[in-house]
This record gives sequence, C-alpha cells and structure tokens, in this order.
Amino acid sequence: MKTAHGRKERLIMKSVDFLTGITPSGTPHLGNYVGAIRPAVETSKNKDVLSYYFLSDYHSLIKNQDPKKRVQFTKEIAAAWIAMGLDYDNCVFYRQSDIPEITELAWILTCLTAKGLMNRAHAYKAAVQENEEKEYNDPDKAITMGLFCYPVLMAADILMFNAKKVPVGKDQIQHIEMARDIAARFNHVYKKMFVLPEALVDESSAVLAGLDGRKMSKSYENYIPLFGTEKQLRSMIMKIKTNSLGPDEPKDPDTCTLFSIYQAFATKEEANDLARRYREGISWGAAKQELFEYLNALLETPRKRYQELMDNPGDMEQILASGAEKARNYAAPFLAEIRRAAGIRNLG
Ligand code: TRP
Repeated sequence: MKTAHGRKERLIMKSVDFLTGITPSGTPHLGNYVGAIRPAVETSKNKDVLSYYFLSDYHSLIKNQDPKKRVQFTKEIAAAWIAMGLDYDNCVFYRQSDIPEITELAWILTCLTAKGLMNRAHAYKAAVQENEEKEYNDPDKAITMGLFCYPVLMAADILMFNAKKVPVGKDQIQHIEMARDIAARFNHVYKKMFVLPEALVDESSAVLAGLDGRKMSKSYENYIPLFGTEKQLRSMIMKIKTNSLGPDEPKDPDTCTLFSIYQAFATKEEANDLARRYREGISWGAAKQELFEYLNALLETPRKRYQELMDNPGDMEQILASGAEKARNYAAPFLAEIRRAAGIRNLG
C-alpha cells in the first residue's frame, strides 16, 4: 500500500478512545468479569466511542511455555468475552499475534528505550528481588529478555493505534507511564506521531473477593470460574469462607466475603435488601443459596453461548479475523509512516 494512500485512509478513521489487552494466562473467573470484562462489554456497546480489545498472546509467552495451555486459555478467554456480550461489531476485538505490525513497532521502540527505564519495571524488580532472597549467585537467574522487555511490547500495543485511554488494573499503571516515556522519545527523536496514552483505573469496578476473602485471583487458587457447570458453581459458592455465627444471629454484611460478592453483581436495592436480612439474622446456608441463584440466573444464557463457541472455535476465528482486518487497516498505513519517519524506507 502506498504511504500517501495509507495516510489518507488513516486520517479519515476515528482515533482509538480505549484500548486494553487481556493476557491468556488462565481460565476466566468471576473476578475477571467484574474487573475487566463487564466494564469492557459496556464500553463496547457505546456508539460514540471506538474501543479496541485484544488477546495479548505474545505477552503470554513470557510466563507460560506450554503451547496447549496457551491455545486453551486463548480460546476460553475469547469465548468468555463474546459470551458475556462484547459487541464485536461496534468495537475492534482481535488477537495480538494477528497484527504483525505490533511486533515490528516493538523493535523500533526497543531501540529508543533506555535500559535503565526497564530496570525500574516492577515485574522485573520483583523477579530480581526473589532471586536475591534465595541468595542465588546470579540476580538475573531465569529472567528472560521477554520479561525484561515486556513494557516495550505493551507500549507497541498501545502506540500502534494511538490509543488515548488504557483501562488497566493498578499494577499496570507503571507500564502506561513507560509507554508515555517511549512515545515522547520517538516524538522527540524522529517525528511527532504518537499521542501520549493515559491509564484509566476504574476505582468503582472494584476488586472481587475470592473464596478465602483475599482478592479473587488465579495465583491464590481462590477463584470461581465464570463458566463451570451449574453444579460446580453451587459447590464453589458453598466453599466461601464464613464465620461461626448461628443461623438466627445478626450478621455484619460489611465484613462478609459472601455479601461482597453478591454486592458486586446485584443492584443497589437488592444489596440493601440482603444487608437488612443479614442484620436481622439469615443462615449462612440461605445466604449462599441466594448468591448461587443470583449468579446462576445471570450466567445461564451466557453459559450456553460459551459452550457453543468452545465447540465451534471456527466461529471465534471468524470474529477475530474480522477484528484483525479492522485493526490492520489502521496499523499498516500508520506503521508505514512510522518507518518512513525512522528512515526505514526504500531508496527511490
Ligand atoms: N499487561 C497487561 C496485563 O497483564 C495486558 C496487556 C498487554 C495490556 N498489552 C496491553 C493492557 C496493552 C493494556 C494495554 O494485564
């Protein structure tokens, strides 16, 4: 494609308002739904904004070297987002590895990124600290260049589409700041081409508690999968930790994991009503049954859709392929401009 044509095409496209990546590193659970999927599904339906959501499968190479698991998690996450109602026609939903322009940009950015900046990345520092605590001779033991350069790939994900706002968890704020630094460096050295992205941390889409009361997370193994069977959902909910108060004793909703999970899904009125019954005295069995019924009603229809998608991954491939086409319509002409600016271009 000619640059002139590409430039024209990009100018008539809407710029990207929101962009976020989902690393396929585990089975989707209720915490992922409340923290990431639900807000994204809402935004994806908004006709006034252009949002990009992608499966960051290249990021998943860093921690997981089991190809079968990668494929399985990628499938599960794609199916979960679609089944929970992502409006993939209105937004752009794609797989990172389908956009070769991103990895090409990552190299260009790598050559502008100070090593010292990467030395300060939390994930890398934590890995070094762990080695030091174990008193290994080499503080970089088992740390790959993938882990070290992780923030550069993430910057490429964002800058490739000049995304303005990046919805992320608190742990990712530093990476967005690094993306800003790297973008500013490119703008200064070559040509002003990149918007400086901003992290968007939604305090209201709070952290969901897990079975043991700590944050629901894959690493704590305290999560409830989004798409288990009805039977599994019930038995997981029955495992949520409560205290030893008797069935008729008044209970405090504000310190109760069970209640906090209910509250994350229910309307305000429903939550207030359950809170009142807590104070009057509700048995743990009845409260658990209530949560189960609430979640099961919410998940019944998506569960069927999820199963259909998992049984027919070709349907997901089609959705992802059309997302990749939309994303590349933006990325290819933009990368051509970036390459030109950096002097990677033909000599004629
Ligand atoms: N690193 C993010 C995470 O682990 C996932 C991710 C990859 C991402 N690329 C991104 C998030 C770009 C926002 C923007 O959660």
